[in-house]
Amino acid sequence: MPDIYEPAEDSFFLLEVLRKMAPKLLIQNHHLKALDMGSGSGILARVLIEMGINPADLTLIDINPKTISHLKKEFPKSKIIKSDLFSKVKGKFDLMIFNPPYLPENKFDSRKDTTGGKNGDETILKFLNNFERHLNENGRVLLLISSLTPISRIKKIFKRCNTRLLATKKLFYEKLFIYETWSKRKISKIN
Ligand SMILES: C[S@@+](CC[C@H](N)C(=O)[O-])C[C@H]1O[C@@H](n2cnc3c(N)ncnc32)[C@H](O)[C@@H]1O
Repeated sequence: MPDIYEPAEDSFFLLEVLRKMAPKLLIQNHHLKALDMGSGSGILARVLIEMGINPADLTLIDINPKTISHLKKEFPKSKIIKSDLFSKVKGKFDLMIFNPPYLPENKFDSRKDTTGGKNGDETILKFLNNFERHLNENGRVLLLISSLTPISRIKKIFKRCNTRLLATKKLFYEKLFIYETWSKRKISKIN
């Protein structure tokens, strides 16, 4: 069974942006329903609770069974679902956050916590093609992407959504980007 993803620079960067954004969102909506996709250790969900989101309004999703057992212990009041992206998810949310696996697979690495498919963009594309039916009106998605992720197919979807670049961070070997998306239009499948 794969290990639980250990929080890294990407986690800390998204966490930083969440700390700035969550209070504003909570002022607008005290009962914000949030979804943490690919929750891993739960580091991002923990911050959402610290910021004032009711644990009962929080849904944590992961594909890794070991991660799910860990999250069930750590977040007893939240909804924890073992799911391949939205496949087992019901309902709608006001905020979705996703620090996805974004690296291309290679012969040494095909782990589900870091690699997002053969090209590296597949998990992100699948997420972007399915998030809309789970997003409330005025809902927001925060999605992290890396300069190591092939961007052209992702940008095609972004062009059809309301998307803006919220923050960038330069690391030694890559650049990280956080996008905010709030599309309400139907997205046709790319992948
Ligand atoms: C880069 S880690 C991020 C973990 C945590 N959110 C953080 O920021 O530290 C990506 C997470 O997504 C999960 N994951 C990968 N593919 C997934 C899928 N298809 N559906 C749900 N979760 C997935 C992995 O198990 C892993 O926990």
